[in-house]
Amino acid sequence: MPSSIFARVRRWGARRQALLALLAGIAVLPNLSAAAAPAGDDLRAAFATPQDIAEGKRVALASCASCHALTGIALARGTPHIAGQRPSYLYAELRVYQAGRRGNTPMNNAVKFLSDDALVKVAAYYASLDPAPPAAPAAKKAVKADPVSAGKDAAAGCAGCHGDTGISDTAGMPNLVGLDAKYIVDAIGAYKTGQRKHGMMKTLVSALSDAEINSIALFYALQKPGKAKTEAPGNKAAGKAAATACAGCHGQGGVSTGTAPSLAGQDAQYFSGAMQAYKTGARNDAAMKAPAASLDDAAIKDLAAYFADQAPQPPRVKKPMTTEEIADRCNRCHGVDGNSTDPRTPAIAAQRADYLDPVLRAYRKGDRKSTAMSAMLDGMSDDEIADLAAHYSRQKARGVVYVPVPTKP
Ligand code: HEC
Ligand code: HEC
Ligand code: HEC
Ligand code: HEC
Repeated sequence: MPSSIFARVRRWGARRQALLALLAGIAVLPNLSAAAAPAGDDLRAAFATPQDIAEGKRVALASCASCHALTGIALARGTPHIAGQRPSYLYAELRVYQAGRRGNTPMNNAVKFLSDDALVKVAAYYASLDPAPPAAPAAKKAVKADPVSAGKDAAAGCAGCHGDTGISDTAGMPNLVGLDAKYIVDAIGAYKTGQRKHGMMKTLVSALSDAEINSIALFYALQKPGKAKTEAPGNKAAGKAAATACAGCHGQGGVSTGTAPSLAGQDAQYFSGAMQAYKTGARNDAAMKAPAASLDDAAIKDLAAYFADQAPQPPRVKKPMTTEEIADRCNRCHGVDGNSTDPRTPAIAAQRADYLDPVLRAYRKGDRKSTAMSAMLDGMSDDEIADLAAHYSRQKARGVVYVPVPTKP
């Protein structure tokens, strides 16, 4: 009967046109007309109907709610919130679990026997829910200072001897500017372990954590270098001639480009003391033993005067990015504050930090494979990852809304 066929066609058309998935207030999916909407296979969950979503809820109740809750807001550590997650991403990940490509997790069994249709619908169901509220800022260390200002704070107690910005104005106290950050870290470490013997410095640095030491080194490495403001008696010209023997390791004019410390602008008294210490073996270093052994006191004094007069240069140091600066890069793909506008790219706003943290480490290690993500995480430290996880867990999440599109007349 022609009329019922028309009725069926009309019903089908209405059903397809009634619901196109739109991402709430953020972006609009290509406004495909119903007839011309052969949505890509992976986009099916983004084009779900209320009927699909209702069926997806039944799947969720039977197979997912025990861990993800029917609200999609998980309560257990390490279990991700999936409410309001981007629909095509959810569906794609369910298939990844089904194929066993995301390791061995409780998810493998949960999806093992589900049909493709069920995966589409349960993805659509969870995508349609309101996302989790943002995590409250952690009570302590809620606002973490950037490493450079943290270093400035930690170095406050060093200023009395080493100068406010590492430029010494007390004879015998070394300049700390112009030195490579790694050299400073190693030197402090050597005092701590007693490998470099100096009772006072050992006491002064013994309570510093590794993070504080790194920040202190970064702080000094980023200060504008200047010569020590101390006396440097001695014959500079004679020192200059003798210094050619040092340039191979300490660089031209005492500006090192290798692992040996820069000597340019160094306090002369400290310099001479260090040379004596290498001579006697009190400061034990294989590279310095021979150069120091051949020099008498007058030659050392001349070298000290020459190097003290050389202009120190800023060491090569990369100022680490703050969490916000890193997040700006992440947001290019993950959307404003981690609210992705692409149904295939996961939203990460308001996600549990105890899920984000291990996931990011898994990308870094290559256990979870994604070219985009492993490139982003290459070389990132555990601290940076923890800070990013905390940052995103505190962002407000915007969900996905399945909006009815008016049928064309
Ligand atoms: C036994 C507990 C359990 C059950 C049941 C379970 N899940 Fe999961 N789900 C987890 C855990 C734990 C993870 C995190 C695993 C990982 O790190 O890869 C996860 C991860 C996921 C992810 C990946 C989220 C993301 O942001 O990448 C999706 C999607 C998901 N589950 C959906 C479902 C759906 C849909 C069901 C029901 C068909 C389900 N889960 C059933 C525990 C469970
Ligand atoms: C009471 C004065 C004093 C204070 C305070 C002090 N230092 Fe020192 N620092 C010295 C002296 C003296 C030396 C030289 C010791 C030696 O001969 O090995 C030194 C050496 C160093 C060196 C090695 C420099 C080089 O060129 O090898 C570093 C690095 C250093 N201090 C860092 C610090 C830091 C960081 C602090 C603060 C936590 C600090 N110091 C506080 C007096 C001080
Ligand atoms: C073979 C490479 C090499 C040569 C040549 C060399 N040095 Fe060094 N020098 C080093 C290294 C490496 C260190 C760091 C050792 C340590 O941590 O105690 C150092 C440390 C020093 C220090 C201590 C700096 C500080 O901040 O504590 C002084 C001073 C010094 N050298 C002076 C000289 C002079 C002067 C000459 C030339 C007569 C010379 N060095 C030649 C490798 C060299
Ligand atoms: C070039 C685009 C791009 C950039 C930049 C990017 N991501 Fe991703 N991210 C993706 C894609 C695509 C996925 C899904 C990959 C997959 O299927 O495993 C993803 C997955 C993730 C996940 C897993 C989400 C989940 O629910 O399991 C997290 C967390 C994440 N990214 C965080 C970040 C962070 C933090 C940064 C910045 C350091 C970042 N991303 C930068 C594209 C990007």
